[in-house]
Amino acid sequence: MNMGKNRIIVGCQWGDEGKGKIVDLLAADADIIARFQGGANAGHTIIVEDKKYVLHLIPSGIIHPGKICVIGNGVVLDPFGFKEELDFLTEQGIDYKGRLFISSAANLVLPYHKMIDAVEENSRGTSSIGTTKRGIGPAYVDKVARHGIRIADIFSPDRLKKRLEYQKEIKAKYFTGSTDERADLERTFNDLMAMPDLFKELAVDASLLLHNAYKEDKTILFEGAQGSMLDVDLGTYPFATSSNTTSGGAFTGLGIGPRMVDEVVGIVKAYTTRVGAGPFPTELIDEAGEELRRKGDEFGATTGRPRRCGWLDLVQLRHAVRINGVDSVAITKLDVLDGIEEIKVCVGYELNGETMQEVPLDLAELNHVKPIYKTFPGWHDETTGKVKFEELPENAQIYLNYIVEDLDVKICIISTGAKRTETIKVLV
Ligand code: GDP
Ligand code: IMO
Ligand code: MG
Repeated sequence: MNMGKNRIIVGCQWGDEGKGKIVDLLAADADIIARFQGGANAGHTIIVEDKKYVLHLIPSGIIHPGKICVIGNGVVLDPFGFKEELDFLTEQGIDYKGRLFISSAANLVLPYHKMIDAVEENSRGTSSIGTTKRGIGPAYVDKVARHGIRIADIFSPDRLKKRLEYQKEIKAKYFTGSTDERADLERTFNDLMAMPDLFKELAVDASLLLHNAYKEDKTILFEGAQGSMLDVDLGTYPFATSSNTTSGGAFTGLGIGPRMVDEVVGIVKAYTTRVGAGPFPTELIDEAGEELRRKGDEFGATTGRPRRCGWLDLVQLRHAVRINGVDSVAITKLDVLDGIEEIKVCVGYELNGETMQEVPLDLAELNHVKPIYKTFPGWHDETTGKVKFEELPENAQIYLNYIVEDLDVKICIISTGAKRTETIKVLV
């Protein structure tokens, strides 16, 4: 029996906060790790000793032998990308058989969704979102329009065929005359028909699985993808992804109730990054931003794109803490700030002579706010290798304490390097 805490892990910024590392770390004390939204737009990096794993769809708990991993109905799953990820795990000697499950209600991302994602991005022109082109938006559109294709449809060839034929009808403007091989629905059908055996082994009622596990006092980690500011309702819409990346997404994305969750852990990078377009008040388009990108190796784990970098933004984080109900935060990449002379933190926004303490919901306003900064002296000692909060350089302690006092949350973990061991456990 394991009486640990059931935690939702969410990114508090624009993604890439280090969720993969923290989920892997907390997975050691959990029985089940469940992903609740997003798809292969995510890139979650885990480094164990000298091995690097980048996972897109499979929960970050899979690296731990014996842990059960669940992909919920809220995820949009690219079956071909998923197969590649399974092959990667097998190459790495990770045995997932019998411990990886997918909700049969999860919608599929099929090749035509990726094609449409690219076509729509091009047609947006200068207002393009900068999506990952993984077909995420078009797949969620189909789901909400109620003509999506789900895992369960793979097991019923006649139904699958009909559904694909219907796609051809309703998406004629994309399919008719297209020379893109991803528009070839017969090929998609045939490729899917090679997969039922693989998915039969994995498809389950994920909600039921989690409820039964909960009744047996199993410890469950709910793994979010992307970040709070990319939430389709509460983020910087339309520069957002197409799912609820915030804690609420865990309930609908897995079919669980709030009583199953004991704590919401927010992952906060010690500075801010964003990939793709959209407002980013504390962005640094200068040498300081370059320095963060270089030291933090800020290049996308999924697309390889350089990430936009800037100072920590407490206005943005207050929003994230509120919309997720964050109890405690894991602060990552503190080591990237080592050696920086002066570190700034945005404590408010200024717009037309007025001071704002909260993120304005109107993007036109958010695009024009000016950050109000508080400057902290940096530290020279390395933070990597420290095992206790008290061992950190004094100025690093001052920086961290200021953040959590402002946000009125506790610190549970401080991450000072990409490896599992480069971690200070404060409250776990
Ligand atoms: P995720 O999408 O939130 O899982 O984050 P990503 O994996 O996309 O990006 C985080 C990057 O930072 C990865 O390359 C991690 O290996 C790395 N990383 C995570 N925590 C730390 C840390 O504390 N310090 C440093 N230097 N790198 C870290
Ligand atoms: P993880 O889980 C960072 C961004 C894209 C784009 C916007 C919409 O690794 O933190 P989409 O392909 O979802 O339609 O793109 O969202 N985006 C991410 N940025 N980390 C991610 O995931 C992201 N997933 C999507 O760059 O701006
Ligand atoms: Mg990532």
